[in-house]
Amino acid sequence: MTERYAVIGNPVGHSRSPEIHRAFALQTRADLEYTRIEAPLDAFVATTEGFFAAGGAGLSVTIPFKAEAFKLAKQLTARAQRAGAVNTLAPRPDGLLGDNTDGIGLLRDLGENLGYTAEGRRILLLGAGGASRGVIEPLLGSQPQKLFIANRNGDRAAELARHFVDFGPVDGGGFEEIEGEWDLIINATSAGLSDSELPLPFECFAQDALAYEMVYGRDTPFLALARNAGARTADGLGMLVEQAAEQFYLWRGVRPQTAPVIQLLR
Ligand code: ATR
Repeated sequence: MTERYAVIGNPVGHSRSPEIHRAFALQTRADLEYTRIEAPLDAFVATTEGFFAAGGAGLSVTIPFKAEAFKLAKQLTARAQRAGAVNTLAPRPDGLLGDNTDGIGLLRDLGENLGYTAEGRRILLLGAGGASRGVIEPLLGSQPQKLFIANRNGDRAAELARHFVDFGPVDGGGFEEIEGEWDLIINATSAGLSDSELPLPFECFAQDALAYEMVYGRDTPFLALARNAGARTADGLGMLVEQAAEQFYLWRGVRPQTAPVIQLLR
């Protein structure tokens, strides 16, 4: 019987998750369908419960429902628990399981696709929302020299840093508190979606810096600034495919190959 999967979000029309999971299905000879569900902003829980009651086999959760999915899940993986956000739901006999594959997706993209080692680096993480929360613990696990979280609302970044202080050298504050040079600068804000510029000091890019934009498929002001500063740049498409592969593995117990799918999407 064909298994049913979907990505749930609002808006969700732009999501490339269906293409990715359909490519994984072809590759692994899985009989499944994967669609988009645009849930009304006030009806995430009802829509999700309806999907699983009708036999749905798994959901990818995207903006703006990751925090609600965290609350809805009956059980959480350790990494979802620490992130405080859920991007993957799977039905289990004793209730919905919530996972978060964003962090592992970023680390795999950095390590395996971009050949980048975060160990010993100075990492500047921009943003303090759901996208940022999911990657802090895995980034600290890769043993950077230090991690600074900068956010428009500096208090939000400082609070987030306190939450993760047991995992490594992390601090947070406003953009005006960014000092010195950074090797890896990750944009986890949604500013790029509206072509908004970030108040980033030009000097924050170290020589040979890597600028990583989590938004994919558009040339954002962050990427333009980074290029002007001489940094190497990457967008979030690789992370998207890598986090999807981890979802696919959670749902189906099979790990698809990511490189051909990244190539296909580009
Ligand atoms: P997500 O789940 O995508 O992280 P979110 O929780 O709404 O979504 O967080 C959005 C992030 O982008 C926040 O860090 C937000 O900054 P604030 O906490 O100060 O609101 C940041 N952001 C969004 N638009 C921005 C802009 N134009 N300039 C700077 N930061 C922006």
